[in-house]
Amino acid sequence: MPQNIWDFWANRYEKLWVQKYSLKPTRDLVVAELQKYIASEIEEELNLLDVGCGTGQLLEDIKEKLCQPNLALTGIDSSEQMIAFASKKLTNARVIVGDALALPFSHNYFDFLTCCHSFPYYQDKLMALQEFKRVLKPGGVLFLVQASENNVYDKVVMKLVKLTTGKAAYPSKAQIRKLVQQAELNLLNHKKIESQYFMPSIILSTLQNGDKK
Ligand SMILES: C[S@@+](CC[C@H](N)C(=O)[O-])C[C@H]1O[C@@H](n2cnc3c(N)ncnc32)[C@H](O)[C@@H]1O
Repeated sequence: MPQNIWDFWANRYEKLWVQKYSLKPTRDLVVAELQKYIASEIEEELNLLDVGCGTGQLLEDIKEKLCQPNLALTGIDSSEQMIAFASKKLTNARVIVGDALALPFSHNYFDFLTCCHSFPYYQDKLMALQEFKRVLKPGGVLFLVQASENNVYDKVVMKLVKLTTGKAAYPSKAQIRKLVQQAELNLLNHKKIESQYFMPSIILSTLQNGDKK
């Protein structure tokens, strides 16, 4: 087993059963929400960063479905194998190995951040949100999605999931609200991702750095 569990999962990742019930519905909702912010053709370049981008599926979907040549896409992930996989198929996005807690980007650089199913694995979640805020422009928007333990059923299911991923913590909606407040981000809304009845809660939190643009 490699030291980084995600290196092990990299070339199996796109075949996992959770793609159908959790990961694809997440990508579809994030693309739809993002579209609300960039509905018409962009004239000036906008920058989007996907943190914990895995094999680059969300960046691929954004490229294909939004068709915005002026939306510059970047992905970062701490797994070398995930990034090796992503860089083979993504021709129009920059993908790099790096840590969500120490993003190698300057302050106020990105208009949008996405972070899907990666946040539970960060040791220091407040530090991650502070780092996200640092690289977001004022008014920039973060779409944060993950499984979220809000009841006993969620806790049981996520305990089983942890057997395959190692150490993780799936914050409840109340915990997300508290972290967001501490990081001084604005919570615009929480949305539950609708999937099959047997899936645990998956929550999209839309957050903004300061006031609306
Ligand atoms: C469940 S996968 C999610 C991948 C993709 N975002 C998706 O929605 O399918 C979790 C990803 O988070 C990455 N990850 C975990 N901890 C990280 C960290 N501290 N910094 C950057 N990426 C991290 C893992 O390497 C893995 O690719």
